[in-house]
Amino acid sequence: MPETAPDGALPLCAGADLAEAGPAHVFDVLLWRRPARAFALRFEGRVVAYMNRCAHVPTEMDWRPGEFLDDERRFIVCSMHGAVYEPTTGHCIAGPCAGQRLMRIAVVERAGQVYWYPSADIRPVEFDAISPDSTP
Ligand code: FES
Repeated sequence: MPETAPDGALPLCAGADLAEAGPAHVFDVLLWRRPARAFALRFEGRVVAYMNRCAHVPTEMDWRPGEFLDDERRFIVCSMHGAVYEPTTGHCIAGPCAGQRLMRIAVVERAGQVYWYPSADIRPVEFDAISPDSTP
C-alpha cells in the first residue's frame, strides 16, 4: 500500500534522488504569490530545504542549476558575492549577509519519499487546470 503524504505536506522527490552533499532538487513555488524557486538537498543524512534566495540580495544562488555547495561540499555558497551558509541551519556565517539566514522550508522524509510543507508565505504553484480533452 503506498505511503500517504503527511497532513499538509506535498510530495517533492524520492529520497534516493538526494545524494549526501550532492546536487539539490530545485523546485518551483510561489513566494508571496510570485513565482520563485526553492531547493532541497541532503546534508549529514537529513534533507533540508530553503528558498533559492540569498539573504544579501534576493537573487538565486546556485553556481549551476542545483549546485549550491562549495568545492569541499561543506557549505552553501552564494554564487553572486560568496555568502557562506550553514547547510543544516541556513544561517549565514560569512560574507555580506553574515548573521542572516535563508528562508527555510519544512520537509520530511518518509518511506523513501521527501515531502515539503507549504506555509503562509511559500505556496505550491497552481497550474491552470488542463482539460483531458486537450491531450493530442
Ligand atoms: S547576492 Fe548572495 S552574497 Fe550577494
